[in-house]
Amino acid sequence: MPATDMSQLVSLCQRRGFIFQSADIYGGMKGLYDFGPLGVELKNNLKRSWWQAMVYERDDVEGLDSAVIGPAVTFKQSGHTETFNDPLVECLDCKARMRADKMKDPTKCDECGSRKLSEPRMFNMMFKLQFGPMENSASVAYLRPETAQHIFMNFKNVLDTTAKKLPFGIAQIGKAFRNEIIARNFIFRVREFEQMELEFFVKPGEDEKWHEYWLEQRLRWWESIGVPRNKIRVTDVAKDDLAHYSKRTFDLEYEYPHGHDEVEGIANRTDYDLGNHTKNQAELNLTAHVHENAASNARLAVQDLEEKKWVVPFVIEPSAGVERAFLAVLNEAYHEETLADGSTRTVLKFVPAMAPIKAAVIPLAKNKPELVNLARTIKSNLQKLGLGRVLLEDTGNVGKAYRKHDEVGTPLCITVDFESLEDKQVTVRNRDSMEQQRLPIADLPAFLRSYYA
Ligand code: GAP
Repeated sequence: MPATDMSQLVSLCQRRGFIFQSADIYGGMKGLYDFGPLGVELKNNLKRSWWQAMVYERDDVEGLDSAVIGPAVTFKQSGHTETFNDPLVECLDCKARMRADKMKDPTKCDECGSRKLSEPRMFNMMFKLQFGPMENSASVAYLRPETAQHIFMNFKNVLDTTAKKLPFGIAQIGKAFRNEIIARNFIFRVREFEQMELEFFVKPGEDEKWHEYWLEQRLRWWESIGVPRNKIRVTDVAKDDLAHYSKRTFDLEYEYPHGHDEVEGIANRTDYDLGNHTKNQAELNLTAHVHENAASNARLAVQDLEEKKWVVPFVIEPSAGVERAFLAVLNEAYHEETLADGSTRTVLKFVPAMAPIKAAVIPLAKNKPELVNLARTIKSNLQKLGLGRVLLEDTGNVGKAYRKHDEVGTPLCITVDFESLEDKQVTVRNRDSMEQQRLPIADLPAFLRSYYA
């Protein structure tokens, strides 16, 4: 049973060091979070799993890690300067600011209930920067609101250096920045976050087939990280709600404690972006609306040798947020259980690959150097397997260590006791069943390898 209220997840994340409010010693910054010792492990696990599925397990996708700042012209051409806006309403009494389309009641202030509201005005969500020491119009740049634009700008570079043919994709995981009017629901809507994006380039006319294909692939991936299909509602976004670049979008909406909400969007971006960033647009037979382009020096197209013409590929884009994935995985893992003796435990039942700590090695007593040394040697050997973090838990209180590791989702606890010194065996406790088994120390590497295979 997942959490029934977001506060259960918030409290666990703070208590156990998954997530901290950013700059909290100065009162914090709204919509910015820092990921602590366990949070960074879970985040890395998520990103590794996405990269494995989207890049390594395929032969038609290459990776990219681009700059997070882009020149103003990029976002003019992409349509973000003009259309990446949310409607902002201000309460004339308490001065609260709200997003008009997300208010509980559009005639009343969410904070104080006043009906004295400003008219909505469009607010652009991009963070503007001055780039370099000179302050003038040429120095205007933006923090990217999506990683995608830098993928489009690198289309030709990747094509030329990898000799890929259509269909092929470019994948990127990285930060995106949006000056959200209201950041809310913990890490669900924040101002700095990470995206895992694939831009998959296909022949025009084959786009609809690939769109369906990627929907299925993505649902399989969510399932593999512990988010079952029946918890994700797929919405075919209504025409009026589509982003400015999209012909059709499937939203994947996970059932969060605050309700169904978007965890990933899979859009058919047509030839809109490559078309907008390319030169000599008039020769290219584009289907999308384009902003006239004087600045780009690249033709973001491929040659169709049979038909002897240039073709601007269509783009299918699965785009998921790392923070929203984090929250979904955490929520699915969250369980509160009543045990046979009437006591309760909170346990995170992550699938093995997502667990922040892969195994905890616990010496039964902390003031017995021979036990601690043996535990340290076991920890060090298991760490070398490359499965992820293995922790030496030498507080000397096994019961407390089990409780803690249930709560942070460590699948295996390995206890080293006095007998271990004699028989060279240890006790391995399973997080979910709480069953314990005695195993030779020499068998631990094979046991862990097969558990995490
Ligand atoms: N390149 C396409 C794109 O950016 P989007 O639907 O605006 O599309 C993609 O964003 C994903 O990024 C969303 O599905 C969500 O997971 C994540 N995301 C967007 N805004 C976010 C925010 N303010 N906080 C956290 N995640 C966000």
